[in-house]
Amino acid sequence: MRINAGGLSTIVVGREREIKTIKSYIKMGQHCAIVAPRRYGKTTLVNAVLEDLKNDYLIIKLDIFAASNVRELCHLLIDAVYQSHGVSNFVKSAKDNILDIVSRFKLDTDFVKIGYDLLREPSEAELIKKAFQLPDLFAEKQNKRAIVFMDEFGDIERFGEDVVKKLRAYFQTHQHVSYIFAGSQTSVMNKVFLDKANAFFNFASIMNLPLLDIDQCRTFAKGLRIDHIQFNEQAVEKILETTQGHPYYFIKLIQEAYVLAYLDDSSLVTPDLVDKAIQKILRDNHAFFEVEWDRINVKKHKGHVLKSLIGLDTVSEQVSLSYKSQMIKELKNEAVLNNEKQMTDPLFKAWLIRNIAI
Ligand SMILES: Nc1ncnc2c1ncn2[C@@H]1O[C@H](COP(=O)(O)OP(=O)(O)O)[C@@H](O)[C@H]1O
Ligand SMILES: [Mg+2]
Repeated sequence: MRINAGGLSTIVVGREREIKTIKSYIKMGQHCAIVAPRRYGKTTLVNAVLEDLKNDYLIIKLDIFAASNVRELCHLLIDAVYQSHGVSNFVKSAKDNILDIVSRFKLDTDFVKIGYDLLREPSEAELIKKAFQLPDLFAEKQNKRAIVFMDEFGDIERFGEDVVKKLRAYFQTHQHVSYIFAGSQTSVMNKVFLDKANAFFNFASIMNLPLLDIDQCRTFAKGLRIDHIQFNEQAVEKILETTQGHPYYFIKLIQEAYVLAYLDDSSLVTPDLVDKAIQKILRDNHAFFEVEWDRINVKKHKGHVLKSLIGLDTVSEQVSLSYKSQMIKELKNEAVLNNEKQMTDPLFKAWLIRNIAI
């Protein structure tokens, strides 16, 4: 079995409701936006849905984060559109050997010409307009519906408000495309989709992705056998208690504990190995957590407020209630806290408890 934390994962624990919901949105032609902190499994979830639908729809995937400017964004989209027709690296091939594409993929020359001409478009405004029309145009020509998945969509802000407005205006006219957006920067995503003043307000149904269901994680971990190594009951409970259904850490901790058992020539993962694995994950993430903590502490008393919420400290009486609630609001916007004022990253919390003196 491929147990991969952080990379492309084929294991999907739980998420049945979410998968069904997204599929029914797609069927209805309702666009949707998936919002959750990083590593909550947004990309994994959408990929699972798209894998199931790949025979019935043209699947077009675009990672906004991967583009450094608008032209590159358009090129990535053009590539993704041709990829949905089985042609890889269209943009590069179109520069090197366009005839090869026509012959190798038996694509209608009409189809190839559209992309080929587009790459020679000198005006950036025209390029955006035509590139973002491609999914709808190709879907119509193929007599199929398309699903366009825009990952890390919060990042679209980088390209300026004008681009965001334009995209909305184009998307609105598309009859053959369902859009799925996913984004981590909760505040940006909320601003884009929930702020009345923003172009995308009311465009997509919002899905706030929660942590995984603990019982489903338990069932998965108990049933797991990797090369004859399994996890005893207390080890499973320790993993659940530490990771609280956080998909990335859940898989990561299983993986690290498994490696330790393997090195010990043991066929059983016990709680002491899980403990060692937790230490390793905390060490590996130390630099990242330290930067996070420093960033939080740029604002006076913000770190205190966070520590008080996890029971590590009390906030000085000099801090007014309104300042405190302002800090909490910011921590929520930065996705450090969820709406229930709990930390979204269970290992960052464990790191704070171990490393930050009162
Ligand atoms: N439903 C799930 N079941 C098991 N593992 C998951 C699940 N969702 C995510 N993961 C694990 O967490 C990692 C991060 O998930 P990812 O989808 O990349 O998060 P996001 O896109 O929200 O940042 C994945 O590489 C995978 O190891
Ligand atoms: Mg992702």
